[in-house]
Amino acid sequence: MMLEINNLVKNYGKKEAVKKINLSVKPGEIYGFLGHNGAGKTTTIKACTGLIKPTSGSVKICGYDIVRQPLEAKQNFGYVPENPYLYSKLTGREFLDSISGIYMKGKRNDALKRIDELLEEMQMTDDADKLIGTYSQGMRRKIIICAAFLHHPSVVFLDEPTTGLDASSAKAAKDLFRKHADKGSSILFTTHILEIAERLCDRIGIIYQGELIAEGTFQELKEKFEKPGSTLEDIFLNITEQNSKECNER
Ligand SMILES: Nc1ncnc2c1ncn2[C@@H]1O[C@H](COP(=O)(O)OP(=O)(O)O)[C@@H](O)[C@H]1O
Ligand SMILES: [Mg+2]
Repeated sequence: MMLEINNLVKNYGKKEAVKKINLSVKPGEIYGFLGHNGAGKTTTIKACTGLIKPTSGSVKICGYDIVRQPLEAKQNFGYVPENPYLYSKLTGREFLDSISGIYMKGKRNDALKRIDELLEEMQMTDDADKLIGTYSQGMRRKIIICAAFLHHPSVVFLDEPTTGLDASSAKAAKDLFRKHADKGSSILFTTHILEIAERLCDRIGIIYQGELIAEGTFQELKEKFEKPGSTLEDIFLNITEQNSKECNER
């Protein structure tokens, strides 16, 4: 497995944000982590990327433990944060070049080629030499997506990556994710939008109040939880409601 999350727990004081989550993502797989606001998606990703320390449990990236072998683990993943920080005084291209200096040291020609390729794929070639300070939210998002894929990472974490993207940019982003996964990488993708999970993900996990309450392909979840005439939204509500009842009965 490229990504393995084992019994991950994260408490913020008394708040149990993530409760014993287990999941793994295979090579070539796009895994959609679907849940309401506040479900624990960002907290899980932050623990996976080493930004916060788990209360207990562990995360392995390509076999490297993110807490005990952070350098090795970090070389193997790319990350699009929910609220990325970008230097407004750099151009998009300069920003990517500075990131490549960290991840692709000594491979500058490869890096420059890769930057051009990604800018083109994300429809940012024409704006690449403008200052980030002048970018729209969508353009910033596209640059940060380019940055996450720069060094051909084996695992990519995407926290609500399509926020702020127009339809055409969202399509470009999805194509990039698929192409990258098809080369054997694993992608963990968070979203609260069902349609995105349905269209893009090979497997979906539903997180509800910090717990992974259902997992499977979209088709499997549909067969298991669908009632006659129900829409996608109904299925999702059905799963989460069923779980809240079980919680109350306990
Ligand atoms: N730094 C923090 N301190 C205290 N509580 C937090 C912190 N970060 C997140 N939380 C809480 O943890 C829960 C999960 O948050 P989060 O992982 O951001 O959810 P999601 O990304 O699914 O919307 C929420 O109830 C949120 O308020
Ligand atoms: Mg979040």
